[in-house]
Amino acid sequence: MDANSHLVSELIDAGLNRREARWLVEEFSPPSEESIVAMRAAAQRRLNGEPMQYVLGHWPFRTLDLDLDARVLIPRPETEELVGLALEELVKRNVPEPLILDLGCGSGAIGLALLFELRQLGVHGSLVALDASRDALEVTRANATKHGLDSVTTVHSSWFEDLDRSLLGRVDLIVANPPYVGAAEFATLDPVLGYEPLSALVARDSAHVEGFHDVEVIIGQSCPWLVANGLLICEHGNMHRSAALHAARSAMFVDVRDLDDMFGNPRFLVARR
Ligand SMILES: C[S@@+](CC[C@H](N)C(=O)[O-])C[C@H]1O[C@@H](n2cnc3c(N)ncnc32)[C@H](O)[C@@H]1O
Repeated sequence: MDANSHLVSELIDAGLNRREARWLVEEFSPPSEESIVAMRAAAQRRLNGEPMQYVLGHWPFRTLDLDLDARVLIPRPETEELVGLALEELVKRNVPEPLILDLGCGSGAIGLALLFELRQLGVHGSLVALDASRDALEVTRANATKHGLDSVTTVHSSWFEDLDRSLLGRVDLIVANPPYVGAAEFATLDPVLGYEPLSALVARDSAHVEGFHDVEVIIGQSCPWLVANGLLICEHGNMHRSAALHAARSAMFVDVRDLDDMFGNPRFLVARR
């Protein structure tokens, strides 16, 4: 048995499944006295229940390898779909140098993946990445640097409150994955979510809809920031479809639609100014 196989067996014996044991061994490869100590400490964190993404400190998101830690939400596979939708729309519209606003940027997942993939298509976009958490903005900046993306501005703001008003009417695309779990629902969910920032997950109720407050604010206030024909794409909770459609129509958006995610759940509001 080679050194790596031996370590994989050790981690499986300690209680990890084979896939996770392999990931950890690869992460700390080549084995040395020091890296084995670090690997065992990482394995213990995982065995204590911490998500693998935080234990490794990075995780793939579309074409990026995002640095992640407990200051930011672990980006979800549905959100990769949101990036795909947004990219498709931008390409279809042939916007030469799109200005993108990512509301609640967290690790920077959505906005940075869009910039990166646009660049691969020869399109140079710029990104305003906004979050109410200064910690999240730090992680976004680190991820932008890691991926060589320099047309990124970070803004500390609660939604649009402190956003520079010179951006009014100038944004081509607003993307958002705001908190959308109600407090009552959160109490019933897997306790592993307790490793992630509560402020990234839980939202107040609104219009008699659980966890809808932040989605409602974003839909209600996005229109004036967009260029004519500009798009809003906003992720939301399973129970939010009709409230989101209603909010978008009330905010005078047109071509309003709501799409399912890959699991068949109502998930993405798409609306045009
Ligand atoms: C569900 S996480 C999404 C993170 C990232 N966009 C992603 O998809 O992985 C929601 C983000 O919204 C931020 N947030 C929560 N309330 C906010 C507010 N009032 N204004 C701006 N950002 C807020 C949180 O800090 C968190 O980073």
